[in-house]
Amino acid sequence: MKLARRIENLPPYLFVEITKKIAEKRAKGEEVVTFAIGDPDIPTPQHIIERLCREAREPANHRYPESDGLPELRQSIANWYQKRFGVSLNPDTEVLPLIGAKEGIAHIALCFIDSGDIALVPDPGYPVYSIGTMLAGGESYYMPLLRENDFLPDLDNIPADVLKKSKLLWINYPNNPTGAVASLDFFRKTVEFARKHDIPVCHDGPYSEVAFDGYKPVSLLQAEGAKEVGVEFHSLSKSFNMTGWRIGMLVGNATMVNALKVIKSNMDSGIPQAIQYAAIEALEGPQDAIKEHNDIYQRRRDLVVDTLNSIGLEAHPPKASLYVWAKVPEGYTSKEFATSLLEQVGVVVTPGLGYGEHGEGYIRLSLTIADASLVKGLSLLSGWRDRNRFKNQTNLT
Ligand SMILES: Cc1ncc(COP(=O)(O)O)c(C=O)c1O
Repeated sequence: MKLARRIENLPPYLFVEITKKIAEKRAKGEEVVTFAIGDPDIPTPQHIIERLCREAREPANHRYPESDGLPELRQSIANWYQKRFGVSLNPDTEVLPLIGAKEGIAHIALCFIDSGDIALVPDPGYPVYSIGTMLAGGESYYMPLLRENDFLPDLDNIPADVLKKSKLLWINYPNNPTGAVASLDFFRKTVEFARKHDIPVCHDGPYSEVAFDGYKPVSLLQAEGAKEVGVEFHSLSKSFNMTGWRIGMLVGNATMVNALKVIKSNMDSGIPQAIQYAAIEALEGPQDAIKEHNDIYQRRRDLVVDTLNSIGLEAHPPKASLYVWAKVPEGYTSKEFATSLLEQVGVVVTPGLGYGEHGEGYIRLSLTIADASLVKGLSLLSGWRDRNRFKNQTNLT
């Protein structure tokens, strides 16, 4: 059977490979502690679950939903943006619920990218920006995110011939995988750049609620004029521990929102309605869980960063996101180091190379790991260091 070239050219999705390796180890009866996937271990708040159960019993919610979401949900999203960021949105034209942000991120390329077009994509970055671009027939121009630039792209350094063919700019803060954050000033600069070069901006902001030490991430849409040139993807996955519920949203520029609505109305039939009501509950109900979860992540972040630094892996405490981005020890590539950790001590981390060429030299550790496993995993990591320090010493003698 002959598959389309677009499938044959597709690299395996990063976590599919990692999950397979973990399963192989576990099948052999070996213990594995994983810091790999950013999937909150803490359950969804109870009031949201209860709303889902109630709504699931309603026959009206058993039928096809509208593909652009319940008007009440769009209104709740607009209310939440107003309350959280002071951004006002028209719920009918500037808000589109999604089956998780990932779905919208992959599909929006179909709205802007024709064959031969370019999308400007962060490197390292969430893989779906470039994969969506490729599935739409386009190419990615990778903008390096470097520590010396605080992991922000250098927009002024993109060659003019690339800019001419660029049809979409992707940015993501708080950032996966580096944990970096962006200021309102950076967003203002981005809006100016987008206007000057006529390139629509997609800001992906699912980690805006996961922040530490009192820091509050900003939205692209808080920058003056942002709605003229861009949109923001958001999600309930990380804010309310609802990764498995599959619900997110696109907000901002009405033309861009409408374009994705057109694509989606031809491809899917919306989000199950009971889930949409549960999302309303999440957005409008008590928000206390966000702070409670952030306190837990912050404690874990400190433990992870301290342990990594104590064993010689340079790591800085992120102000936001679910990730610690750490340097691999000298003499290893990120893949070699991740493999060595898995094989020698049963700890899974994500090799930075999986997020792009400029992720090389780093590993990513997720904070979504239950406390007991986290402590165990960190002690195994220290064990790796002792073992290899000892090995190096014996090599020297
Ligand atoms: C940067 C980024 N964007 C989008 C997503 C997808 O979120 P969702 O669960 O809403 O599809 C993730 C998930 O890990 C992510 O890290």
